[in-house]
Parts: sequence; structure tokens; C-alpha cells
Amino acid sequence: MLFPEYRARRLRQNEAFRSMVRETELSVKHLVYPMFILPGQKVRQEIASMPGIFRLSIDQAVEEAREVYALGIPAVILFGIPEKKDEIGSEAYASKGIIQRAIGALKKAVPDLLVITDVCLCEYTSHGHCGLIRNGEVDNDLTLEQLARTAVSHAKAGADMVAPSDMMDGRVGRIREALDEAGFSHVPIMSYAVKYCSSFYGPFREAADSAPQFGDRRSYQMDPANAREAIREAILDIEEGADIIMVKPALPYLDIIRTLREETHHPLAAYQVSGEYAMIKAAAKLGWLDEERAVKESLLCIRRAGADIIITYFAKEIAAKL
Ligand code: PBG
Repeated sequence: MLFPEYRARRLRQNEAFRSMVRETELSVKHLVYPMFILPGQKVRQEIASMPGIFRLSIDQAVEEAREVYALGIPAVILFGIPEKKDEIGSEAYASKGIIQRAIGALKKAVPDLLVITDVCLCEYTSHGHCGLIRNGEVDNDLTLEQLARTAVSHAKAGADMVAPSDMMDGRVGRIREALDEAGFSHVPIMSYAVKYCSSFYGPFREAADSAPQFGDRRSYQMDPANAREAIREAILDIEEGADIIMVKPALPYLDIIRTLREETHHPLAAYQVSGEYAMIKAAAKLGWLDEERAVKESLLCIRRAGADIIITYFAKEIAAKL
């Protein structure tokens, strides 16, 4: 049927029609809010390139977690800024480390809020790389043991789910094995399976103080040019035992989200990263974009591409408006 018999506008004429045929839903239930935790008491440091996002001491993070839960957001993902860094990132798995203490405090104060933890060494190593260095290179297999210890320490502290983001080979399998051995077979793994080497992480590295001190992350994070490789990475992680797979960043990689939605059957998460947040914030501040509409549209489009879960710094701000 062609025009004039077919008129696409018939079903767009009012909100009742539009909502009846709307294909994608955006709800607060799909959102995860990232939080940065640092040592101290009563500390709230706003991140310059991420207006509205703060580095918080544990007591402040507890208050924020209460707000997050009250808004209906089901989960937070935690990033830690430790007291001290060293070559091997030992604070990442210290039983009284910043994240381990934060998990305990959050679970105690807001037991029904899911606490997800980012498992990576970059915030904890003096050189800022996501793995251990041997002969000037990030050594994959040495790093696996540190990641496994870190994941187990998070589970012991009460984390509901761990999310490895380092992009070492074999880490999902090694973490699964270590969790199971330690009695945490019920703790799921959300794998940053498809994490690109992206310029859009810039503000995060300021927030987490985790920029590499030499070189870059191209020997472990993915080349933005590659899409077929994303399918291989995702399938490998699924075979190793990932429960949820993630694509990161989100908006510049919607084709990857769509491809993985079609090629795999696991729940799919997308991370709207710090640079994506900063771009919208900056344009809105200049009056160049309508912030609320831009945020809703970007999140809706990430859902439409195929993501079940969206990790976003906008979660709190947008929750009440959904
Ligand atoms: C690594 C990690 C990074 C992000 C999440 N986990 C940074 C990186 O790989 O450099 C980026 C998140 C963001 O930009 O919002 N632990």
C-alpha cells in the first residue's frame, strides 16, 4: 500500500496512538548509576569535566545510595580511588580497601540496592595500567591472578555482582573459577566484553585518577575499527561464564550493540561513558542542546539498539523524569 492509501502520520497524530505503537521503552529499571569512592570523611569533590558527579567518601556515598534507591534505580557500580597506589595494585584486593569498605557500608544502609563493582587494577597501580607490568609490557597471565583476588575480595565484602573491565584474555574464566572456589557461585559476572580503546574515557580518568603514566591501552582494549572482533570477544566471554556482556562506550558503538543483540542471547549492557556525559553537559551549558531531551533520546536510542541495561552518569538526574 502506497500513499495516499498508506499514511505513516495516521499513527503519529496524538500521544495515545504514538504510545500504542512505541517499540522501545526507557525505564529507570534499566539504569545503573556509577559512583566514585575515595578515602576520608565528609568529602564531596565535584569532577571538573563531569558537572554533577562527585568523588565521595564512604559516608557521603551512603547518603547518595539512599537517594539512588529512593529514585527507583536498581543498581550502582563502584569505582575506588585508594589511599596509596603501588606497582601491583595491591589495594584493589585489600580486605579493608576503599571499595571493600564501601560495599559493606552500602549493603548495610540500603540492602536492596544492587552493588556492582568494577574489577580492574588501573585505579590502584602507580603506572595506571590495567595489569601488571613485566619487561615494560602489560603481562596478561600475571594480571589474571590479581583480578581473581580482587573479584573474590569484592564478593567477600558483599558485592552482588562483579564487572571486570581490564580486557585481559581469559579473565572471565579465571574470575568465575576463583569465585566458585571461594563459595560465591551465586555471584554473577557482568563482563566488559567489548571495551574499545576510546578517547571518550578522558573525564573518567580524571575522576578515577587512572590515566596510564606511559603508553596507552591499545595493547589490551579493542580497536574502534573492529566489529567482527566484537562478536568473537563476546562469545569468548560467554563461553568463559559471563552472565551479562557489555559494550563500551555506547553511543558511538550502537552498531556493535545491535550486532551483539542479534548474535548472542545473553543480557546486554551498554556503558554511556564519561565523555558521552561530558559532551551533553557541555553543550547544554552553552545553551546548544536541550539537556533533558538529549539525555532521554540518547538513552532511548541505546535501548533501541538492543541494550537491556544502561550504565549512565545521568541515571539520578533522569530517573525522576521517566
Ligand atoms: C577501567 C575503566 C574505565 C572506565 C570504566 N572502567 C577507564 C578506562 O578504561 O580507561 C571508563 C568509564 C567512563 O569513561 O565513564 N577500570
